[in-house]
Amino acid sequence: MEPFRHHIFVCTQEKPEGVTNCPANRSWQLLSALESEVISQGLDNEVQLSTCGCLGLCDEGPILIAYPDGVWYRKVQPAAVPEIVSSHLRDGKVVARLAWTDAAAMKAMSAEHRDHFRAMMKARDKAGILPDDVNEMIRGFMSSRAVLTALELDIFSAVGSNGSSADQVAQKIHADARATEMLLNVLVSLKLLEKNAGIFRNTPLSARFFAEGSPDNARPAMLHSVNLWDRWSTLTDAVHSGTSVASRTRDQQSVISFIAAMDRNAKERATAVVKAVGANANGIHRMLDLGGGSGAYSIAFARAIPDLHSQIMDLAEVVPLAQGHILRAGLADRITTRVGDMLRDPFGENYDLILVSAICHMFSAEENRALFQRAYRALAPGGRFVVQDFILEPDKTAPRFAALFSLNMLVGTRGGSSYSEPEYTTWFRDAGFSDIRRLRLPGPASLMLGTRA
Ligand SMILES: C[S@@+](CC[C@H](N)C(=O)[O-])C[C@H]1O[C@@H](n2cnc3c(N)ncnc32)[C@H](O)[C@@H]1O
Ligand code: FES
Repeated sequence: MEPFRHHIFVCTQEKPEGVTNCPANRSWQLLSALESEVISQGLDNEVQLSTCGCLGLCDEGPILIAYPDGVWYRKVQPAAVPEIVSSHLRDGKVVARLAWTDAAAMKAMSAEHRDHFRAMMKARDKAGILPDDVNEMIRGFMSSRAVLTALELDIFSAVGSNGSSADQVAQKIHADARATEMLLNVLVSLKLLEKNAGIFRNTPLSARFFAEGSPDNARPAMLHSVNLWDRWSTLTDAVHSGTSVASRTRDQQSVISFIAAMDRNAKERATAVVKAVGANANGIHRMLDLGGGSGAYSIAFARAIPDLHSQIMDLAEVVPLAQGHILRAGLADRITTRVGDMLRDPFGENYDLILVSAICHMFSAEENRALFQRAYRALAPGGRFVVQDFILEPDKTAPRFAALFSLNMLVGTRGGSSYSEPEYTTWFRDAGFSDIRRLRLPGPASLMLGTRA
């Protein structure tokens, strides 16, 4: 039994540059054209679209296979999609001019490809050649650095909405023309720009997320990663010394991009966090948001709970940024701010909810242990302490993002790290909390909750 009337496979096997493959012949564009056409012809619930790996017919790509009919189409370009969808998928008539029916030739080509591939892998192994994916991992910094430099120089804004030559971009950003062109060419290869007759244009993605004037411009937040780059360059020394060796003094511009980055993440997650904490259902009236950053979580909780009053405690350089967000949200009467150091300054008392989101990783285990104890004392009976962070599995090797984030804290803090669920549980328990729970949310961070008896 088939759950769908048709199941379509499109080969999207990536291969090293210079090796023929379906994506180089526009198979991703084919897939996206298929998706749009299937929807527009009302066949969304009858056709399932999937990608598949190499079928050994790369010279004839892109390859599209339609099951249950077992029809193999070759050299399918996006322009052929409306016909394939209406004729084959809607009316059941195979598009004969694109279908490849010579099964013997297909099998021979596929077998030859397989034998060639196996022989090549054997020869590489014998010669002791480093696997391509390992090579790529080691050189991953090159693409990353190219994009960071493009963001730093605001290249995508300089390219503008009508496109520009390399010389024009170089003039706008006051940079060398030859070097600018080299960078622009790389951005084309990374699919962040397009190039036609010497004119560079933003792709829809870069125009939306990286160019000035777009409401979704993520550049201010992404500039935080430019700062992280500098810190990560000190990783070797940090591993030697066991702590951050990078300068930790922050200029106001880096504080702005840090808080912009935090705000972007927080806005994406805040609704799910409010829902997971169950704020609507339970009487929460007084909240303390330690290290509240842009205020995005306090704002989300205040919007969900009409009589909530939240206080944000953060450092002096961050509080004015939070105040700006709170004012723009129209919540200045219910969200207040306080300059303070959460490791030293008193928290106050009688809170129904204390939130520490993306905080514990900045501190050492001992600092967290003390923080949990002070949070317990600052809560009203029945009050909840909610921690959001990148939580490691007990052996600390996964998830990879949380493990990498530990290094991010090594290079950036005195004693910070990602911590495991057992570590958090111990701090909750030792502070006196009961009903200790972990709540997994989509994305890299999870919540841990405890209740004051
Ligand atoms: C990673 S951000 C998290 C911001 C926010 N909670 C969120 O999840 O979006 C950490 C925040 O803690 C603040 N912070 C760092 N050390 C602090 C301290 N000792 N006392 C108060 N705030 C601190 C930082 O200024 C920053 O706003
Ligand atoms: S890459 Fe698509 S068939 Fe080989």
